[in-house]
Amino acid sequence: MKVTVFGTGYVGLVQGAVLADVGHQVLCVDVDAAKVAALQAGQIPIHEPGLDKLVTSNHANGRLRFTTDAAEGVRHSEVIFLAVGTPPDEDGSADLQYVLAVARTIAEHMTGPRIVINKSTVPVGTADKVRDVIAQGLAARGASYGFDVVSNPEFLKEGAAVADCQRPDRIIIGTSNPASEARLRELYAPFNRNHDRIVVMDVRSAELTKYAANAMLATKISFMNEIANLAERLGANVEAVRRGIGSDPRIGYHFIYPGAGYGGSCFPKDVKALVRTAQDTGFEPLLLNAVEARNEAQRNVLFERISAFYGGQLQGKTIALWGLAFKPNTDDMREAPSRNLLEALWAAGARVQAYDPVAMKEAQRIYGERGDLVLVDNVDAAVQGADCLAIVTEWQIFRAPDFEQLAANLKDRMVFDGRNLYDPAQVASYGLGYVSIGRQP
Ligand code: UGA
Repeated sequence: MKVTVFGTGYVGLVQGAVLADVGHQVLCVDVDAAKVAALQAGQIPIHEPGLDKLVTSNHANGRLRFTTDAAEGVRHSEVIFLAVGTPPDEDGSADLQYVLAVARTIAEHMTGPRIVINKSTVPVGTADKVRDVIAQGLAARGASYGFDVVSNPEFLKEGAAVADCQRPDRIIIGTSNPASEARLRELYAPFNRNHDRIVVMDVRSAELTKYAANAMLATKISFMNEIANLAERLGANVEAVRRGIGSDPRIGYHFIYPGAGYGGSCFPKDVKALVRTAQDTGFEPLLLNAVEARNEAQRNVLFERISAFYGGQLQGKTIALWGLAFKPNTDDMREAPSRNLLEALWAAGARVQAYDPVAMKEAQRIYGERGDLVLVDNVDAAVQGADCLAIVTEWQIFRAPDFEQLAANLKDRMVFDGRNLYDPAQVASYGLGYVSIGRQP
């Protein structure tokens, strides 16, 4: 089947490559000429396991192509994905300008019927807006082609995007049009083999499903972070509590790891956007507000611990930092808890020696050259001459450090762990002080 994908960001590029890999003819359109040129030259703009090979092999066999030519994109296929960005506005609501701009482009260049499939995370009601924009654009041209706007949200995780996209837990198809449903079933047939993962519903429910899924996961994390704070104050161990409650299948072990707060491009943005959507209807979402507030507070916890240890005197201290990405296996630092920590440490007058297996370039891009940030290229260099160590991302390489070396190198022999990577008794046996989340020192 021929498919067009507007937007070569995370969602669009992965989706395009995965569809091409099963045999569809995919044309990816992006307004960013430099990005398109790079993709044509086999350079992948994001770090994502398996994506490189998938993009280059399918580009080489001609099934995956890239262009800046929107008109060509609209002509290429009856099936058009919208996978452009929906960054948060100042008030937290999703900014739809890119989605609606593509809708106008589609109306301008349509030469026959189209199914417009929205993959971007967009507020409930966006499909209706896209529909209106296309209808107006067609009317302005005096054209009257049939079209449908379908909501088909994406649930991939960064760091596992290709695998998630190839083996989705569910495929949500939001449409009330049987012809669109049939077309999407055909498109997704290669991903729907052994049991039926397709859930068909009306378009607004599909749009809300995306937000509800992310908000539920964010709620689990904030809940556990709240329990971690309680555990510390009550002389309990949140890791024991986590195992204790996770064994109940109604609760489950997933997404109940306490830590330095959730980050990334999705949870913070989507929870805020859902709060806005709720408020726009006149409903105050008490639970979502609390999920967000807990997370904001949690992102400062590591800094507060470090600052308390030094009695608020961080001027001139050197902090080793392991981890910059918002989670392992990605170089993404959007809303990363590391940024709250870095910025708070700098504001307090400390210097940071940081290491991350892949996000160093990204940190450089965000912060540029500055005297109080030294980016080093391995775990040992980060702790050389540092006063203490802080850990914010649970990369594998941080899981079994040489504690003897740490004790020898860290002047104050302190480890502040925002991801509970170690057994406190083991760390203590090396003469190191250890502060983690929701456990006793
Ligand atoms: C999230 C969802 O997991 C995907 O299903 C969804 O498709 C995606 O957003 C999206 O909307 O595009 P992602 O942002 O890539 O995916 O990252 P997650 O793996 O969900 O992690 C999010 C944050 O939660 C990370 O900062 C992570 O460290 C934190 N987290 C996760 C915890 O603090 N505790 C946990 O138990 C799990």
